[in-house]
Amino acid sequence: MRTLIANGTIVTADGSYRGDVLVDGETIAQVGADLAGAGVAADETIDATGKYVIPGAIDVHTHMELPFGGTFAKDTFETGTRAAAFGGTTSIVDFAVQSRGASLRAGLDAWHAKAEGNAVVDYGFHMIMSDVNDDTLGEMDQLVAEGVPDFKLFTAYPGVFYSPDDHIFRAMQQTAKNGGLIMMHAENGPAIDVVAAQLVAEGKTDPYYHGVARYPIFEGEATSRVIRLAEAAGVPVYIVHLSAKEALDAVRGARDRGQQAFAETCPQYLFLSLDDLGNGFEGSKFVCSPPLREKDPHWQELWTGLKKDDLQVVSTDHCPFDFHGQKELGRGDFRKIPNGLPGVEDRVDLLHDGGVVAGRFSKERWVDVISTGPAKLFGMYPQKGSITVGADADLVVYDPNRKRTISAKTHHMDVDYSCYEGWSVQGASDVVLSRGSVVVRDGEFTGRKGHGRFVKRAPADYARLA
Ligand code: URP
Ligand code: ZN
Ligand code: ZN
Repeated sequence: MRTLIANGTIVTADGSYRGDVLVDGETIAQVGADLAGAGVAADETIDATGKYVIPGAIDVHTHMELPFGGTFAKDTFETGTRAAAFGGTTSIVDFAVQSRGASLRAGLDAWHAKAEGNAVVDYGFHMIMSDVNDDTLGEMDQLVAEGVPDFKLFTAYPGVFYSPDDHIFRAMQQTAKNGGLIMMHAENGPAIDVVAAQLVAEGKTDPYYHGVARYPIFEGEATSRVIRLAEAAGVPVYIVHLSAKEALDAVRGARDRGQQAFAETCPQYLFLSLDDLGNGFEGSKFVCSPPLREKDPHWQELWTGLKKDDLQVVSTDHCPFDFHGQKELGRGDFRKIPNGLPGVEDRVDLLHDGGVVAGRFSKERWVDVISTGPAKLFGMYPQKGSITVGADADLVVYDPNRKRTISAKTHHMDVDYSCYEGWSVQGASDVVLSRGSVVVRDGEFTGRKGHGRFVKRAPADYARLA
């Protein structure tokens, strides 16, 4: 099957130009001006006049079916990747979880079993390490060889995913040898627990106090600590879901020193704030960690960080829990609210609207932070995140002028609310191709469960990207 995407504006991280893209089977076969006029034949032609043609977006931080707070994140690989496709995201990298006392192998196998035959678009895995010991350290090298080169550890969530500094440092030393990447959830969990217990003892149990307890300085402290530990171990480090100026300062400082330190933020930290955690128990819809911050100074700092490349990626941390029955587990004690927000479907449009339309950055930078940047840092480039001959034909015909309203009534994520209910955004995906197959066309799903494949990833050239 040959598909010609004609007359569009091809937008890449490097530049934009009028051109056509020929897809042959699963890959891009030709890119050039007026291929149709030059006699290139195709089985189907998609007219992209007035539209952008962008590489499929890549979300490198999702949690399908994550066990958390006595329940599970609601989207499966089928529903979550289907929602992703509607929003122009054609690859995800999800976090496989090592359960305490079990092996990394068992955790990874469990995640393969969840995804295989179910995913609608391509997927890869990072590994969450819950125990660091001689056995799990030994397993890390094998995972790198199997295409899972990144390991997430936590200075947050004592008693759940938390690792003490000596464990983190040992995992960093091992990763320095095997060539992979350490990903850090950097908040000072023990200090947060002290403040949270004091607030609850004062009767301050509403979701709002989840945001109060998790001071920005606790994120800044943990971020600078893990960055310094990574420097000592000689390993590249990537800070996930960065939310606060204090943490960004630590990343910026490290990058200025020449350290291989990278970071992502998420739409919720660019568009939502501590105010959303108010309004009684409704605020539970916005409980995630790190928490939503005060607008000032954090929003402006994060947008500037994205523009100046102190932040390289916008991912979602998609981790959806229903308001009814799941978030409600924390009525009367904010510490029991499952942490996480839905978002995999809306990232591309929110960043187009709030980034490009609002004039905060260029459309090329938009493509960089939602697709090319993550592809490079997570060992998928140029197979993904590029519009080049031989790359996977993961492509989006994007209408930069179409306006749509975000709502739980119309979204495809399996969750009963939207954090952006009623918001109007400018920009939407018209046609989405995953490895040459049209999976979404004009609001209709045309893909297939099981089409998505595991992407075996290699460590990236972190030194070059730093
Ligand atoms: O609140 C969040 N972020 N939930 C998902 C787990 C994590 O820490 O990424
Ligand atoms: Zn986290
Ligand atoms: Zn997460």
